Parts: sequence; structure tokens; C-alpha cells
Amino acid sequence: MSDDLFKKVVSHAKEYGFVFPSSEIYDGLGAVYDYGQNGVELKNNLRQYWWKSMVQMHENIVGIDAAIFMHPKTWKASGHIDGFSDPMIDNKDSKKRYRADNLLEDKIARYQKDGKTNKAEELQVALDNATIDNDLAKLKSLIVEHEIACPISGTRNWTDVRQFNLMFSTEMGAMAEEADKIYLRPETAQGIFVNFLNVQKTGRMKVPFGIAQTGKAFRNEIIARQFIMRMREFEQMEMQFFVRPGTQKQWYEYWKEARMKWHHKLGFGSENYRFHDHVKPAHYADAAVDIEFNFPFGFKEMEGIHSRTDFDLKNHQEHSGKKLQYFDAELDENGKAYGNYIPYVIETSIGLDRLFLSTLCASYKEEEVGEGDKKDTRVVLSLPPILSPYKVAVLPLMKKDGLPEIAREMMQTLKLDYNCFYEEKDAIGKRYRRQDALGTPYCITIDHQTLEDKTITIRYRDTMEQERISFERLREILASEISWSKLLS
Ligand code: GAP
Repeated sequence: MSDDLFKKVVSHAKEYGFVFPSSEIYDGLGAVYDYGQNGVELKNNLRQYWWKSMVQMHENIVGIDAAIFMHPKTWKASGHIDGFSDPMIDNKDSKKRYRADNLLEDKIARYQKDGKTNKAEELQVALDNATIDNDLAKLKSLIVEHEIACPISGTRNWTDVRQFNLMFSTEMGAMAEEADKIYLRPETAQGIFVNFLNVQKTGRMKVPFGIAQTGKAFRNEIIARQFIMRMREFEQMEMQFFVRPGTQKQWYEYWKEARMKWHHKLGFGSENYRFHDHVKPAHYADAAVDIEFNFPFGFKEMEGIHSRTDFDLKNHQEHSGKKLQYFDAELDENGKAYGNYIPYVIETSIGLDRLFLSTLCASYKEEEVGEGDKKDTRVVLSLPPILSPYKVAVLPLMKKDGLPEIAREMMQTLKLDYNCFYEEKDAIGKRYRRQDALGTPYCITIDHQTLEDKTITIRYRDTMEQERISFERLREILASEISWSKLLS
């Protein structure tokens, strides 16, 4: 995959109604994007794939939908007020702000590209150590020592490295003087932790069990790059799995493997995924690994799996003064009940927007089609059919002779089960191309023969083959090919 592919994917996303810059008529808003008419369908389908496999396929995992606003004490307890920050450095000439570790990572990549492997390795070790020690002065000295210049001004006139908190805050309450400062949640996970006992008791859940949710999260990312890869408003799909203390290692391994399998099922090539262990897990975790995807700009984090210990529940118990313990009546090897404890937690956390981007990048293809004078290039999104925004395009060959009427009649039946697209304008070849670009797996054309015997021509997106079949046969094909079982079993 290349930079060139990435540019094409970004412009395809806009041209075909998948993703638009937010408030574009006002020149957009940095690192904020809107999903268009086709993007929202694909995004919903990806979310559904996650929800089905994480919640509905597990008897011991349930879902919730917690509010974005939470009591301000939540973020003190979770450590986000004190610890959720990035090391930033400003260039005094361009006035641009950068993440210090990102500047160093870019330098490492450049050393590698230039074949300076030793220098790359040396700098990587120094960066890892400075990160582990949270040594801001060392980060600055590495930037100076490796002669890193600002990409805008070209100068090396840097400020010191400082920590910046990433949470957005606002005020709740009408009167400014009485209003409480509250935060937009930077992760959905805390909504799960504060509801741990509500769900456990009302759902009569027994450890090990999980609580999942999907929803918006907000981070004031200083460096917003690479389209929807790093946004200020994004969506997470998270699951917290509550386990007996002492069993967290085994469950961590279980979820690592299960989540990797889930990605592989999408069929985008297992070589495009890899694990990346964290040298320094976040403040709440004793082990952490990323699942990285091979984006056009290299392998980057798509999902995190964290062994969060009892950090969150313990801190919420302390800050709220409410017991957040679980009574385990099962017997240990000595015949004694495990009794009361704060469960340990394994978290799986994936960004829906990154999953969306990986899906677009992996399924975008340009193919040479036709021969001689008819040689052409088609753009096709080879999405798994169950994820495609539209499953069937219903295309009457002409706008007359009763063809639109019978086409609409068929569409009326099909749309009860499948999202369908109806189009009667333009030559049929042009209409096929538009559906290829949206990833629609099946087009059906309705012609004069349809009026006689109710047969239609089905055209397959991937092979571009066409065949004449009955309406009943079409329904059989759709039922067998457009099924969640393809991804979930
Ligand atoms: N609850 C744990 C947590 O939030 P994280 O590694 O900070 O962990 C989890 O975030 C996932 O959320 C990431 O793997 C990524 O896919 C997504 N994510 C994080 N920040 C993001 C951003 N600014 N824009 C888009 N996705 C983001």
C-alpha cells in the first residue's frame, strides 16, 4: 500500500458520500469529520459486526449505553485529570505545536529509510527510556541532538517539552458562577466501570463476565493527522471483561487471540495485522498490546487490549465511597468460597473510525477492464457483502414500458430484508460502475423479458459476470450470501 493509494481513498470517500470534512462550507474544523449517506451505512454495519460478535454471541457479555457526560469525580478517580496528557513541544518560529515523541518517531523512520539502522535503533531505545521515565528534558535533548527541524519553518528553535491534557471541558449549569466544570469523556470505558454493580446485580452476572458499549469519545488531539485516523471526536467500541484476581493473564491471552481472529475474518489478509506490545502500558494497565493494521502510511494501532488490573474499580470505590465488590460464592480448591473481591479487568478497545479507514483502504481496488477501444479502469470496493452500504441495486433498463413499475415492485419486497438502491438514470454500464464504487455486491437489471416471466439479470460485483435468473433464485442467492454467519461462524 502506498501514499498514492491513501490519497485516492480519501478522495473516493468524499466523492462517493462516505466521509466529508465537518462544517465544510466554513472551511472545515480540524480533525473533525462527518459521515455521509454511504459512510453511515458502512459504519453502522461495522459497528453491528462488533456488537454481534462481542455481545450477542456471548452469553456472559451484555451491552450498555452510558451518557457522554459523567460526574467530574469520575475523571479524578480514573487518573485522566492528572495523567491523560501528551508531551508537546512548540516551534518558536512557525508557532506550530508537535508531539515530541512523534517528532522522534518520524526521525527513526527516516533513519530506517536511509539505511541508518544503528542510528534508528539507538534513538528508539533512548525514546523508549525517556517515555518510561516520563523524562521531558530528555525528549527535548533528543530532538536537539538529532537535529530535528520544524517541517513548517525549517528551524530548530524549540520551546521546552510540556505536558498537555487532552480532555475537553465545558460547564454544566446555567449560571457561570455556579456552573460545574465537566468533561467530554475521553474514553467510553468509565461509563462501564461506574455501572459495574448496576449491571452485575440486575443482570445476575457471574464472574467472568463482560460489559460492552459503543459511543463517542473526545480528545483534544494536538496533532491531528491522516484523515479519520486521529480525530478530536471519534467513536470507540469497548468491552471490559471482569475476572477473578490471578486469572487476568490467562484472559488477556484469550482476548488477544479472539480479537485477532475477529480482524482476520474480515478477509483483508492476515499479513496486514500484527501485535505490538507496549513498553510502557498506560497508567491503569499492567500489560497492553495493540493490534496494528497495515495502513497505506504503515502499520498503525487499530485496537488496544489492556490488562487494567483492579485500578479503575478500586479508585471509583475510593472516590465515591461506595463498595464496588463482587461476592463470588464458588469454591476454591480448599472448598472455601472466594468471597468478596474487586474483579480484575481485561479491556478490548477499538476505534470504529480506524476500523472504517482500514476497511476502505483494504477494499479499494482499481482494475483494468475491457479490451481494445473499450479498455477502461474501474474502481471497486470489494467489501464483504454483509458490510456493503447497499446489498442490491435495482436498475430498470429503460424508464418506460412499465419497467420502472415492476422494478419498484421487486424493490418493495427486497428492501424488507436488504438495503437497496434504486436508479433508472444513465446507461447501464455507468450505473454498474457507480455501484462498484460503493461496494454494492449485486445489481439486478429489469428488462422487457422481466415483464413476461419475472426473470432478472443479476450482475456480480467481483467477477462482473451476469446471468439470467428467476426472482426466487435471486432471493436464495441473497439469503445465502448476505448473512452474518459468513463473518461470525
Ligand atoms: N479505554 C482505553 C482506550 O481508550 P486508547 O488506546 O487510548 O485506549 C483505544 O484508545 C482505541 O481508540 C485506539 O486503538 C484507536 O483505535 C481509537 N482512538 C484513540 N484515539 C483516537 C483518535 N484521536 N481518533 C480516532 N481513534 C482513536
